[in-house]
Amino acid sequence: MDSPIKHAAFFFSTLLTAAIVLAFTFWKRKILQKSANSLSAPRPTSIAYPILGSLQYFSRHWDFLRSATKNGPVSYHLASHKCIAVPVENRQQFFSDSRTSFALAYAVMLGATPSMNKDFLSSMGFDITLGGRSNKFLVALMRKERINDNLPILYSYADQCISGLSAQTNPFETIYATIFRLTVNTIASSSIASSPAICAALGEIFHELDQSGTPFTILFPWFMGWERIQRFYLMKKFYNIMTAAIDERRKEGRNEDDPMQYFIDAGLSSMEITQFTLAALFAGIANTGIVAAYILCDLATHPEYLAQVREELDGFVSSFNQDESIPLSTRIQSITYEDWIATGNLPILDRCLTETLRLRIATPLHRLNDSGKDIEIGGILMPRDTIMTFHTSFMHHNEDFYTEPLKWDPERFSEGREEDKSAPMSFCGWGLGRHQCLGQKFAKFEIFLLTALMVSSYDMQAVNKDGLPITEMPPVELNNTVISPPNPAVHLKLLARS
Ligand code: HEM
Repeated sequence: MDSPIKHAAFFFSTLLTAAIVLAFTFWKRKILQKSANSLSAPRPTSIAYPILGSLQYFSRHWDFLRSATKNGPVSYHLASHKCIAVPVENRQQFFSDSRTSFALAYAVMLGATPSMNKDFLSSMGFDITLGGRSNKFLVALMRKERINDNLPILYSYADQCISGLSAQTNPFETIYATIFRLTVNTIASSSIASSPAICAALGEIFHELDQSGTPFTILFPWFMGWERIQRFYLMKKFYNIMTAAIDERRKEGRNEDDPMQYFIDAGLSSMEITQFTLAALFAGIANTGIVAAYILCDLATHPEYLAQVREELDGFVSSFNQDESIPLSTRIQSITYEDWIATGNLPILDRCLTETLRLRIATPLHRLNDSGKDIEIGGILMPRDTIMTFHTSFMHHNEDFYTEPLKWDPERFSEGREEDKSAPMSFCGWGLGRHQCLGQKFAKFEIFLLTALMVSSYDMQAVNKDGLPITEMPPVELNNTVISPPNPAVHLKLLARS
């Protein structure tokens, strides 16, 4: 039988636990409410744990953001990070405000920075925007003249990859790796891209860096734990590869017309060139590599569209070179960068890409108020150092905008239906407002080029990793932080076309 002392101990420990939980809940509400009262910041969400805050954000982003914002914008916190989540009604303000920071918001929410303090970060040599110049550099590298000059080499890398594919391939690895090489050639260095071994080593480090942000590094960015040490080590390895290429170029006095030369001539240090390259790759690779693989899988699971796209691409290529007896890689040589991406040149493929973007881009987007003062955004007060988050699924997977939003249906963008025009700002696959994608045209070119080579070279069938046919893609995972390959894995079985 239990003794009265045991009963009393149980009673008091339960009481103490309840008191601690209540105190923390009250303390948290007080902090958030204080800003809510004095600054009219949104009300705090009740979906939260004491002290650490809304950890539900990490495990199920979409479920958390959707339920928390059911009745409008809310405040929440992730350890010491102050955050605001906004629903679809606030999209215009989210995308259009010019005072919030884009790059630092992502650095914080992906666990890449040890601090939010810009002065402290630049004193450590950490400045992902290179003093605000990085977008200018990217725009210069994406100029059509530069890309056209590089087309023969881009065509040859694309052809090498596609013609060398095995009978069953995982496009989320092989097509992704090709996008990596094309992008490195265009925004980093032609010498690195020309060496498959060095390019693959850089790709491996980049991939590990891409995976290295964890809830712990986001919650406790200042803590020098194993994950952060590992991240520094990976960045050092990335820096070493970049520096070796830069030093070799300088030592040999070589002058090449490529991005690395552009940066050397602009007087950037090896550290600055590395920072730019990493930031540009983070912005460009994962999205493009994975979308390029998804569109092939979406076409393979929709044979009627695969046939239409193949016919459209045949007609497009024939309008430049009618000689069907020579390989496609030769026939496309006279097609320019602008030809690939001009509106109306490939309308069916364009609709398929837009639909793949709509369906597959299901991620949270972030802005940081690093202006040093509290600001008001469309009636919402955003205290200084607060991160504002919006989710693309508020638009892309919203039944008010799209019929059967979880279905891949390119016809929803065709004339007469145009579901993306059913409401203002209902598609954000390439971003909207202030921070629209700077690599959109290049990404479209890469995806169209690889799709053209794939559909004309092979008959494609979607299969699981054991080679068994699948007719439907796995359901879209709405709770991932960034666009991710399907789960379970989807491969492509390829049969060379005569
Ligand atoms: C399929 C491929 C791509 C997709 C779906 C995509 C999507 C996006 C989206 C949705 C945004 C806005 C994010 C936000 O509002 O928070 C964005 C911004 C951006 N993207 Fe892309 N992107 C792609 C490829 C690329 C490539 C290849 C590059 C460059 C190499 C690039 C560079 C950028 C940059 C620099 C920004 C930020 C612009 C700014 O600071 O104002 N993207 N992209």
